[in-house]
Amino acid sequence: MTAALTLPTAELHLHIEGTLEPELALKLAGRNGVELPFASVEELRAAYRFTDLQSFLDLYYACMAVLRTRADFRDLAAAYLTRAAAEGVRHAEIFFDAQAHTARGVPYKDVVGGLQDALDGAARLGMTGGLILCFLRDAPVEEAEAVWAEARRQPEALLGVGLDSAEVGNPATPFAHLYAEARALGLHAVAHAGEEGGPEYVWEALRELRAERIDHGIRSLEDPQLVRHLAEHRIPLTVCPFSNVRLRAVPSLAEHPLPAMLAAGLRVTVNSDDPAYFGGYAGQNLAAVAEQFGLDRSSLAELARNSVTASFAPDGRQAELL
Ligand code: ADE
Ligand code: ZN
Repeated sequence: MTAALTLPTAELHLHIEGTLEPELALKLAGRNGVELPFASVEELRAAYRFTDLQSFLDLYYACMAVLRTRADFRDLAAAYLTRAAAEGVRHAEIFFDAQAHTARGVPYKDVVGGLQDALDGAARLGMTGGLILCFLRDAPVEEAEAVWAEARRQPEALLGVGLDSAEVGNPATPFAHLYAEARALGLHAVAHAGEEGGPEYVWEALRELRAERIDHGIRSLEDPQLVRHLAEHRIPLTVCPFSNVRLRAVPSLAEHPLPAMLAAGLRVTVNSDDPAYFGGYAGQNLAAVAEQFGLDRSSLAELARNSVTASFAPDGRQAELL
């Protein structure tokens, strides 16, 4: 590992449900009496063969059935934070899919309470962070409205709101009123866009949701006007190389557009997305692109710096990490 890889970083694109390692999934299945269609860690890992985003989401949502109690969410997030801290992550902005849990009868307060318990405990690891509530764009907007009605009563528990799940054919605009309400409460706004969908999805997230960061955004490169806009406005893109390869958004790591994005002057950060499923955590994503593209120290330092300055951490905390 090069010295630059040990610089403090922030992780800005991480779905906590995507950190559910098979070992913990089976343990929680036993603890909660939930049946998973996999008898062993090996069987579960063998199912990690994805052809696109939807094929992953099918397994991702199935596995989260094991998450039932506040303690489950705490254990899940505590495991992630411990692992991330060991890799140099010092600040984590954690997505969670509340609707995927409330739809199964898990109370919103238990989800947020458990995740917050873990964040409180991570302070002793030198970690800071916060929670970003993601709306599921492939579910009826009424479901997002229902979870938001609960979340908005306790906005101080959140850093912001996001938008995730199956992108193509599921426009962002129906969620615009929820984003407007979140902004009015002082929350930040991010959205997945340009992962499988084309540049028009990125434009829509910027214009209709007023997203401050774009999650993925790799297909932005197809639209030179969009590239100019993103570069000029310094809009961060939270790129997830292993995810893009595993979900076949790009054919291989060698063909990943990260170098082109950096060369175009885009404000790129490197993240893990769903590390339990995609073969590595943030540090491993960074190490792999460093090796693949022969990134020098200054490029790695730029990526580390971008992750901190693109975070929603207070200025004082950012200064500590830079
Ligand atoms: N939810 C979890 N991972 C996701 C991804 N890569 N894209 C969209 N939604 C997701
Ligand atoms: Zn994601």
